[in-house]
This record gives sequence, structure tokens and C-alpha cells, in this order.
Amino acid sequence: MPASTQILQPDAEGIARAAALLRAGALVAIPTETVYGLAGDAANDHAVAAIFAAKDRPRFNPLIVHLADMAQVTEIARLSPLARALAAAFWPGPLTLVLRLKPGARVAPLVTAGLDTVALRLPAHPVARAVLAAVGGGLAAPSANPSGRISPVSAAHVLAGLEGRIAGVVDGGDCAVGVESTILDATGAVPILLREGGLPVERIEEVLGLKVAARQDGALLSAPGQLASHYAPRGAVRLEVARPEKDEVWLGFGKILSGSEGLNLSPSGDLTEAAARLFHLLHEADARAGAGGRIAVAPVPEVGLGRAINDRLGRAAAPREGPK
Ligand code: TXA
Ligand code: MG
Repeated sequence: MPASTQILQPDAEGIARAAALLRAGALVAIPTETVYGLAGDAANDHAVAAIFAAKDRPRFNPLIVHLADMAQVTEIARLSPLARALAAAFWPGPLTLVLRLKPGARVAPLVTAGLDTVALRLPAHPVARAVLAAVGGGLAAPSANPSGRISPVSAAHVLAGLEGRIAGVVDGGDCAVGVESTILDATGAVPILLREGGLPVERIEEVLGLKVAARQDGALLSAPGQLASHYAPRGAVRLEVARPEKDEVWLGFGKILSGSEGLNLSPSGDLTEAAARLFHLLHEADARAGAGGRIAVAPVPEVGLGRAINDRLGRAAAPREGPK
């Protein structure tokens, strides 16, 4: 963890420095028109894991990927005619669209919490746009506050919560909108409201001449992180296993049992590394175990990122239910 957080000016030098830090995998808070975002390279598993660690988030909720332009959007996601109309009307701006992720898109699975959809936004703030252009790729960015605290709308707010936990903050003054972006699921024919935010639903309906549907509780997209069996491997998953049985695919953490072969979230017992590898290794364990197979997971300490890892593993092990 960086010991001190650099305060960067929103000039050419500060933006170049922020972009260099971000490209190297470090975390930098940036101003957007809604709130300050805690940005990390969306394609870098470790940077994304570090976002959850810095915020002390107890769950791997999927994050919004911020992009510079429509060319980047179409590299990552499939756009329905509805999504194109929304993008043309409101981007750049305080609107986030949940879209179908393109297979092979350069987005860390931790960003989408393993979903096949991705939340994208083109921010309007000139400093955010300058940083995105300089980075040349997507930035995952939740609000730049510790989990459970108030969203930051100034660089001072960011520092009050995250000083010493992130590499830098670009001071772009106060955020004009002051609340998070409106989130719409735009994967289907009708937009579904997932979160109220800086762009009023009335404006969307007025400009596009259509109705925005209310989110339906229990629908797959309404709360992806909350579904108990969301992203479960096909086989049975057993947790807190100190010694796997012969027919189980072993997902270890820390020192591997002598003689046991298997996958390991982090041989050195590093929780950020384990978070960065979690979805990759769940996929791999799923592939090795197959539909009728069994997966055994080593105990992961319930501290820091370990809580989010255990939350996710608990969902993977839960009895299967709900839409898949
Ligand atoms: O204004 C904003 O949106 C700020 C600034 C920094 O851009 N960002 C922000 O990000 O609020 P975050 O990570 O705090 O909010 C992400 C929201 C969560 O409620 C999450 O459930 C939803 O987006 N989300 C992300 N990916 C999703 C997906 N694939 N399907 C449904 N919801 C998704
Ligand atoms: Mg937030």
C-alpha cells in the first residue's frame, strides 16, 4: 500500500502522472461530474482487487467501467439499438448502461463479478476525459470512499477517507452533479432502471419518447451480487476444507498440502492476489470438476478482502436457485 497519497493538479503534468500510475496498476481517484471515482485499470486483475481492498468493501459488487469514446465501448460491449440511442442522447454524462459483454473483452472478471454483462459510462468531466484519453483503456471506478461512508464530491473528501491507501488523487474541484450516475439495464428492448441517479428518469423518457421500466426484484440484473447462487460452478462446492478428498478439485489458499495437487488462490497467502485470481480459478475449477464433480476450497481468513472472497465463495457453494 502506498504510504502517502499524491495530490495531482488537473494540468498536463498531473494528468500524465495519473495516467502513468494507472497504467502501472496503481489506484488514483479522479473527479467525474457525479462523484470522485476510485480508478484502476479495468483490465488488470490486481488493480481491480486493490480497489475492493482500498474501499474495504465486504462484497465484490460489479463495478462501472469508464471509457473515453464509443470506439472503446464497442470493443467491450454489444449495443442494441436502444443502447445506441441512449448513448447518442446522454453520453458523455451521468448515465451508466449495463450491456452484454463481448467474449474476450479486456475486462477483469472481478469488474463484472463474473457476469456476462458490463456497466459502462462515458463521463463528461473534462479531467476524467483527459485521464481516460491518456490511459487509453477502461478504468473501473466506484465512488472513492471507504465502504459504507458518504460519497466524495471533492478531493478533500477523498483524502479524508482514503489518504495513504491510494497512490494519488487528481484535484478537479467540486463535482457538479454530486450524486452517482443513473444506471439502466439496456440489454433488452426496454430500458430497466437499476439505480436512480444524476440523470432524471423523466428526462430519459422525454428525450427518447419511451417508458423506463421499474426494476423487478428478483430479476437477474437487479442485484447481481446478491443472488445466493450467482456465478456458481456446476459441481458441488465445499468450503473451509483443510484436507480435500481424492475426487475433489482442490482450491487452496496459502501453503499447499504436501502431496496434494491443485489450484491455489495465493500460495503466499496474499488476499489481494487471491481476490485477483478468484474468478479465474473458479472457472478453472469448474472446468476441471465438470457438471457432476466436486470442488473443495481451503479456509480463507475472514479479514480485509478475505470477507469479500468468503462472501463470493459462500454464494458459489449455496444451494442452486433463481435464474441462471
Ligand atoms: O456516478 C457513478 O456512477 C460513480 C462515478 C465514479 O462514475 N461510480 C459508481 O460506481 O457509483 P459503483 O461501483 O459504486 O456503482 C456500481 C453500480 C452498482 O450498484 C452495481 O450493482 C451496478 O453498478 N452494476 C455494475 N455492473 C453491473 C451489471 N453488470 N449488472 C447490473 N448492475 C451492475
Ligand atoms: Mg458508492
